[in-house]
Amino acid sequence: MPDRRKLIVVSNRGPASFVRDEEGKRVARRGGGGLVTALRSLVAHHDVTWIASAMTDEDRAVAGEAGGEAIEEVARDGSAYRLRLIAHDPAAYDWYYNVVANPTLWFLQHYLWALAYAPDIDRGLHHAWDEGYVPVNAAFAAAVLDELEAESDSAVFFHDYHLYLVPKLVREQRPDAPLAHFVHIPWPEPDLWRVLPEPIRSAIHEGLLANDVVGFHAERWRLNFMRSSRDLVDCECNFETNVCTFDGGRTHAVARPISVDAAEFTELAASDSVRFLEAELAARRPEFLVLRVDRTDPSKNVVRGFRAFEHYLGAHPEMHGRVSMLALLDPSRQDIPEYAEYLAAIQRAARHVNDRFQGGGWTPLDLRIEDNFAMSVAAYKQYDVLLVNAIYDGLNLVAKEGPLVNERDGVLILSENAGAHEELGEWALSVNPFDVEAQAEAIHAAIQMAPQERRARQTSIREYVCEHDVGAWLETQLADLDRWSARAAQS
Ligand code: G6P
Repeated sequence: MPDRRKLIVVSNRGPASFVRDEEGKRVARRGGGGLVTALRSLVAHHDVTWIASAMTDEDRAVAGEAGGEAIEEVARDGSAYRLRLIAHDPAAYDWYYNVVANPTLWFLQHYLWALAYAPDIDRGLHHAWDEGYVPVNAAFAAAVLDELEAESDSAVFFHDYHLYLVPKLVREQRPDAPLAHFVHIPWPEPDLWRVLPEPIRSAIHEGLLANDVVGFHAERWRLNFMRSSRDLVDCECNFETNVCTFDGGRTHAVARPISVDAAEFTELAASDSVRFLEAELAARRPEFLVLRVDRTDPSKNVVRGFRAFEHYLGAHPEMHGRVSMLALLDPSRQDIPEYAEYLAAIQRAARHVNDRFQGGGWTPLDLRIEDNFAMSVAAYKQYDVLLVNAIYDGLNLVAKEGPLVNERDGVLILSENAGAHEELGEWALSVNPFDVEAQAEAIHAAIQMAPQERRARQTSIREYVCEHDVGAWLETQLADLDRWSARAAQS
C-alpha cells in the first residue's frame, strides 16, 4: 500500500450528513449515490479533508459550531478524516442545486431533453446561474484555498458537475496546486453544449481546463470532452497524447472507470443485517427474480424497464406466477418538478403492469421506494436477472456491485449507454435502452440461459471487479496527478 497522502476531496454531497434521532441525539448518516459510496474507502488509506455542502438543518448546526472549520469525523470502518461542511445561503443553494446543477446540467449531460420542448433558457436560469451556481462555487473555492493555506502540499480532487467553476478560482490563487477533477456523469457531444448560452458553456469548459487532470468513467465521455473543448473554447487538443492546452496550462483528459471496494462489499454482503433481509426475501421469492436498483432518476429509465417487463409477461404467459420483478428505488431530488413527475410516472407504470397481470396471489412487480442499502445488497445476492437499462449513465455502479455478491449466477442486462458497458459489455446482455422490445427479449434470454453460460459470465464480471476495485482506481488517480500536475512538471 503506498504512503498516506494529504488529500482535499471536494464534492457537493459529503460522505456523512447529520440528523437528530428519535431521542434527539445527533447522528451521522451515510450520504447516498454512486460517488459517495465509491469514495468512502478513500479515507481509510489517506489523510483526507472532505469539503461538502451542509444539506440538513443539523449539518448547518454542525458547520456553525465548527465556525466554518473542519470537524474530526470517523468513517464506518473507524478511519478518521476531517469534514468541512459549507453552510451556503439557502436561496443560493436552491438555485445552484434545484435549477442549475440537476434540471439543467444533469439533464443536458444525460441527453434528457426533448429539445422541441425544453429547456427554456429564461431569466430564471440566468438568475440561478449568477446568484446560485457562481456564488456556491466561489464558496467552495474559498474553503479549498483556506485548507491549502494550512496544508500547502495537499492534492485537490474535485468531483462532478456541481463544481465546474471551482478549479479555475483555485488555480488563479494557487498556480502550482495539483488539481484533478472527476466528472462522474456522461460528457455529451459538443453540439449539445450549444444549448447553453455561450458565457455559461465557456465558463464550464474554462473551469475544468484549469485542472491538471480531468477524469471520466469511459473513453466516449473523455473523447467528447476533448472535442467540445476544441470546438467551444478554442482549446488546442492533442488526440494522440490526450493533452488539452488552454490559457497557458495543460490538462490531461483520462478515462478511469471507478469501481467498488470489493472486500468491504463482500463483507457487507455477509453481515447479519443483510442476511436477515435476505432470508426474508428468499422466503417469499419467486422461481425467477428480476431486479433493478436505482435512484428515481429519469436517466435510469425505470419506466421503460417496467414496460419491457410488461412486454415480456405479455409474450410469455407460461411464466406468470413464476417470475417477478423487484424494483428497489431510492427517492431522489424530489424538490425538482421533473423528478417528482418521474416518480409519479414510475408508480403509474408499476400499477399498470400489476393491474394487467396480477392474480392468484402473484404480484408481478414489487415496487419499493426507499433508501435501504442493506436491502439492495440482500437483493443483489438473490437475483437471477439484473436489469440496468439507463438512458445514459456515467458508469453505473449497480452493474458492478450486483455481480460481485450475487449467489445465483444471475445475468446482467446492461445498457449500451452506461459507461460500465465499455468494461463489462462482453459478459452482459447488451441492450438499447430505448428499445423496450429488445429489453423484453433480453429478459427472456437471461432466464433461458444455460447454467454454464450464466456462471461463466457472472464469474468473469466478479473477477474483473475484484481485480479492478476502487483501491486500484484511487491509486491511478494519484499516479496521474503525480505525473502531470503543474508542480510535478516544474520539479
Ligand atoms: C450521482 C452523482 C453524484 C450525486 C449522486 C446522488 O451519483 O454523480 O454527484 O451525489 O448522484 O445525487 P444527489 O443529488 O442526491 O447528491
